[in-house]
Amino acid sequence: MLFVEANGARIPAIGLGTWELEGRTCARVVEQALRLGYRHIDTAQVYDNEREVGDGMRASGVRRDDIFLTTKVWTNHFAPNDLERSVKESLARLRLPSVDLLLLHWPNSHVPLEETLGALSHARRMGLTRHIGVSNFTVALIEQAVALSGEPLVCNQVEYHPYLDQAKVRAACDQHGLALVAYSPIARGRIKSDQTLAAIGRAHRKTPAQSACAGWCNRILLRSRGPRASSACRRTSRSSISSSRTTRWRRLPRWPTPRGA
Ligand SMILES: NC(=O)c1ccc[n+]([C@@H]2O[C@H](COP(=O)([O-])OP(=O)(O)OC[C@H]3O[C@@H](n4cnc5c(N)ncnc54)[C@H](OP(=O)(O)O)[C@@H]3O)[C@@H](O)[C@H]2O)c1
Repeated sequence: MLFVEANGARIPAIGLGTWELEGRTCARVVEQALRLGYRHIDTAQVYDNEREVGDGMRASGVRRDDIFLTTKVWTNHFAPNDLERSVKESLARLRLPSVDLLLLHWPNSHVPLEETLGALSHARRMGLTRHIGVSNFTVALIEQAVALSGEPLVCNQVEYHPYLDQAKVRAACDQHGLALVAYSPIARGRIKSDQTLAAIGRAHRKTPAQSACAGWCNRILLRSRGPRASSACRRTSRSSISSSRTTRWRRLPRWPTPRGA
């Protein structure tokens, strides 16, 4: 399995997003994903499915320690006491003593960032989460957050896919050792009909979505280990993304040049 390491966190590179999953469907999808080999699950207070995510985790039979679970605090809980209370409520819904990563879901200019980050750091020191981070933060907000946070921030989760390059945000994350966690990684399904990714995929008997995923794995390995990682990258791409065991990757695909958001 491929991991991203950032400020002390070791995050499985490919995760399951649970936005818009509800009720028993959500629990079943989480259970099946874990049985299939996913080890990183992403939920949030505002998705209203933390209870079902916890149910799916338990039903999978996968050891808790082997799962990396993220949840996110919604903006109406950013005042310090509200944050702590809301995280405890999340844990009660999940029926877990802690999560692996707790994020501020979206910036909220109505509450001083210093106060919210103080409460987030306190949640980490209380053992409610192993790591903390942010989501949807701009470059300026990343700089402020890194300067103000009492505990290391491990990631900024932002929209990132072949049509949205996020070069400035990526550079700011790199500078401070934060992982960039991509949401909407297949552009909410838009890449299904992308001609370039389809052509790359055809050459390797892959779908456009698989081509995009292989491109991220390539980037992660090349960035973390340097060019000599390419053979490991090919192995990882085969094992985690292949739709057919007999298909071989002759050459890793590269993303098309971004066309803008
Ligand atoms: N931090 C934040 O503010 C934030 C915001 C948004 C999302 N997220 C997280 O990121 C996760 C993923 O983002 P997302 O749901 O917005 O977008 P996404 O993963 O880019 O796209 C999901 C859509 O892509 C289509 N799809 C799924 N698998 C496919 C495949 N193999 N080939 C082609 N199309 C496929 C599905 O459409 P059909 O159902 O039509 O097939 C699905 O609804 C969310 O679940 C959530 O956990 C975080």
